[in-house]
Amino acid sequence: MNIQKIREDFPILSNEINGKPIIYLDNACMTLKPTQVIEAMNEYYYEHPACGGRSVHKFGTQVSIKCDRARKKVKKFLNADDSKEVIFTRNTTEGINLIARCYDFQKGDVVLTTDREHNSNMAPWHIMRELKGIKHEIVRSNPDNTFNMEAYQERMGKDVKMVSMVHTSNLEGYTIPAEEIIKIAHDHGALVMLDGSQSAAHRFIDIKSLDVDFFSFSIHKMCGPTGMGVLYGKYHLLKDLSPFIVGGDTIYETNYKTSKFLDPPNRFEGGLQNYAGILGSGAAVEYLSNIGMKNIQEHETKLNTIMTSKLDNISNVHIIGPKEPEKRAGIVAFWVDDMDAHDLAMILDEVANIMVRSGMHCVHSWFNSRGINGSTRASAYLYNTEEEAKIFGDTLEEVLGKME
Ligand SMILES: Cc1ncc(COP(=O)(O)O)c(C=O)c1O
Repeated sequence: MNIQKIREDFPILSNEINGKPIIYLDNACMTLKPTQVIEAMNEYYYEHPACGGRSVHKFGTQVSIKCDRARKKVKKFLNADDSKEVIFTRNTTEGINLIARCYDFQKGDVVLTTDREHNSNMAPWHIMRELKGIKHEIVRSNPDNTFNMEAYQERMGKDVKMVSMVHTSNLEGYTIPAEEIIKIAHDHGALVMLDGSQSAAHRFIDIKSLDVDFFSFSIHKMCGPTGMGVLYGKYHLLKDLSPFIVGGDTIYETNYKTSKFLDPPNRFEGGLQNYAGILGSGAAVEYLSNIGMKNIQEHETKLNTIMTSKLDNISNVHIIGPKEPEKRAGIVAFWVDDMDAHDLAMILDEVANIMVRSGMHCVHSWFNSRGINGSTRASAYLYNTEEEAKIFGDTLEEVLGKME
């Protein structure tokens, strides 16, 4: 992987702030965008800024053809069977909500999550408990935040209808043993949805061999446009779901009394779409595939090893999750004794343009249950360099040294 060449694809990285380079380590929240993605979106606005799927004129036809192509690129990226299994959404949150709302849950059905879920895979189940009387139960993690397979196996039973879990966590980068979890769920007749917002961007996903039923992820976390996500679903399952947001483009036909809906994916893509975003999404997955997801994963581990080794030696720093950086993708998240996470993030930004995330990262339930106020999180991606990882570690050491 030629990092310097990759960096040239990201125009923002050639900018400086206050005469210093930018060190962007907030990739778990949102990644930067390469020229290839920006151009794909601009092409839409400059060359055929019209409606896809309906208008039969030249602009409309161009948009429809290019959106179909983008859907096929996502299908290929996931190694899915059929592009009809790819639904464009606004983000991971929308995909999870779609399944929560549209699956035929009955009173008493159990949905299992981990204790480390993003609010996007927690709040929808709270709502469904109110609306349909489902039971939301939690599989507690091991003390080092790894998945507790024994607890999961013990709880699994015929009343569990869905297992909905974060694949790679934004809390600390840990990836659950998804294959085993899925196999056990299927053996008990339960479906599995993975929140793939931190995995699709960072590791190779072979959706067929994973055998997951639903997989929701955000394109903005993988070099793509903001406000774009994807929900993958096995086609026979998507076909059985009731519609979500209905209206234009979801309809086969209507009369004054009833509506007949189209098959997936159209059934779930109501109204005029974010066409520029769809084209940018196709460009983003193609960009990542060309670099190679395995290369990206290896690179992130290398950077995380550098960052972690520095943090390991600072006595008042507490890293969240497993000790080994190779078990935490590109993420190192930590709290510091007697120091507010936001203050630290602001200082890093101020002194060295190091952009990290601070707070509870939308995993409030985990932090609240442990009485921790929040963490500072550095998350690396394909364009970060070893030099940046070292600067991050050195700057942190210097800042915390001065605080003592
Ligand atoms: C693990 C995880 N799940 C869900 C989400 C929600 O993603 P979005 O805001 O794109 O819907 C995020 C975003 O940070 C995340 O990290």
